[in-house]
Amino acid sequence: MASLTIRKLDEGVKTYLRLRSAKNRRSVEEEVRIILGELVEGREEPLTPFAIPSAVPTPQRAASVPEASVTLIIGGGIAAYKSLDLIRRLKERRIEVRCVLTKAAQQFVTPLAVSALSHERVYTDLFDPQSEFDAGHIRLARECDLVVVAPATADLLAKMAGGHADDLASAILLATNRKILLAPAMNPLMWNNAATRRNIGQLQRDGVVLIGPNSGEMAEAGEAGVGRMSEAIEIATAAERLLRPPVPRPLAGKRVLITAGPTHEPIDPVRYIANRSSGKQGFAIAAAAQAAGAEVILVSGPVDLGDPQGVTVKRVESARQMLEQVQAALPADIAIFAAAVADWRVANEGEQKLKKSSAGMPPLQLVENPDILATISRLADRRPPLVIGFAAETEHLIDNAKSKLARKGCDWIVANDVSPATGVMGGDRNTVHLISRGASEIAVDSWPVMTKEQVAIELVARIAKSVADKSREPAS
Ligand SMILES: Cc1cc2nc3c(=O)[nH]c(=O)nc-3n(C[C@H](O)[C@H](O)[C@H](O)COP(=O)(O)O)c2cc1C
Repeated sequence: MASLTIRKLDEGVKTYLRLRSAKNRRSVEEEVRIILGELVEGREEPLTPFAIPSAVPTPQRAASVPEASVTLIIGGGIAAYKSLDLIRRLKERRIEVRCVLTKAAQQFVTPLAVSALSHERVYTDLFDPQSEFDAGHIRLARECDLVVVAPATADLLAKMAGGHADDLASAILLATNRKILLAPAMNPLMWNNAATRRNIGQLQRDGVVLIGPNSGEMAEAGEAGVGRMSEAIEIATAAERLLRPPVPRPLAGKRVLITAGPTHEPIDPVRYIANRSSGKQGFAIAAAAQAAGAEVILVSGPVDLGDPQGVTVKRVESARQMLEQVQAALPADIAIFAAAVADWRVANEGEQKLKKSSAGMPPLQLVENPDILATISRLADRRPPLVIGFAAETEHLIDNAKSKLARKGCDWIVANDVSPATGVMGGDRNTVHLISRGASEIAVDSWPVMTKEQVAIELVARIAKSVADKSREPAS
């Protein structure tokens, strides 16, 4: 028979099931079984009541929806009382907890207390007809993101190391394909016993994660040593780290300045000279640098793109405004000039809209715009340690890019072929060559065709590596 994963259901359906099961003091699974049974018998309306009661406002529901789930196995040790606090700590972190108590654990904490804190039914028996008719131990082992054992008794460690499955807890531990976090708790003599040492070694080789035990006073009068279970908050933090591993942020603490898009150079109040740059590549780099932990300032020409999340965006029109904003954003650790800055602007910009006249076309005099890449690359004092330019070429791509690297004084050039046939200008893909100054020669690294987001991620990865390599160099 097919199995049903509650977590994968639509949020509205889950909320309905939670509310209904809480009202009827049943677990969500039991509630689903009852609904299905009633449907078969024709007593339940088809599942239209899955509409969420309007009394529950949407934001509240979103805030309480668990993001992960844990099967918590409570073993029979004195520290079982701390597991009650652990349930609370996990739930605070929006982790759903389903608890399994060993027979011995029920001598230390009651299923009722555990159920009240977890808001779920508690599981105790392998041979429970109610939960085993659809292999409940397999569901408890698999329909979670992590299995936590706290306290992990010497006995449970031995059973796990030996692959036993003669009760619900050990059967789940053998049947699970999820990560297992163990919080051992026992008398120091039990912890240091050769059998426990062997079992711990085996479990570590099997990939099980351990938290603790800590050192301190034991429940037994006058006994102290290593064997105290870690505190609930330590176990919850370790569980959270396994469930939500920290995202690497290699550019944390770095300030990255990026330019993007075209510039518009006015001819008169209504006309301008522009180019076909969409800004997509520069915006993608800004998003990738921000995701890598950098503080990002994006100076953008006129584009149809929204601000990337967490990035400070300065919108400008002309090359001169772009240079102004770039200078104002210094100092920076890394500067990436991806904008397609107009080389020239109109010297004799009309104050009023130019009119057609019998004298013929008005002459447009062009003057050179400031070279932003060269200006920043040559700064004596506030030059960013890594300056990267973009070279958009339609012919002799590599040669032109190499000479641009030398001429502008930057550190890297990202060269891309923008001939109309490539579709790069305004398109979503890019084929680039990274040209950098090696120890003795100029290195050219040609990347395969990628989306602009992939190019951005790869470029940020190279930058992060270069930053890390530099930080390892001995200070001169
Ligand atoms: C008062 C008392 C306290 C106990 N505390 C522990 C303990 O902290 N750690 C441990 O490994 N065993 C402890 N035990 C022994 C376990 O309860 C026993 O090994 C039991 O079989 C464990 O069952 P379980 O692993 O299925 O939970 C204690 C026993 C008693 C009577």
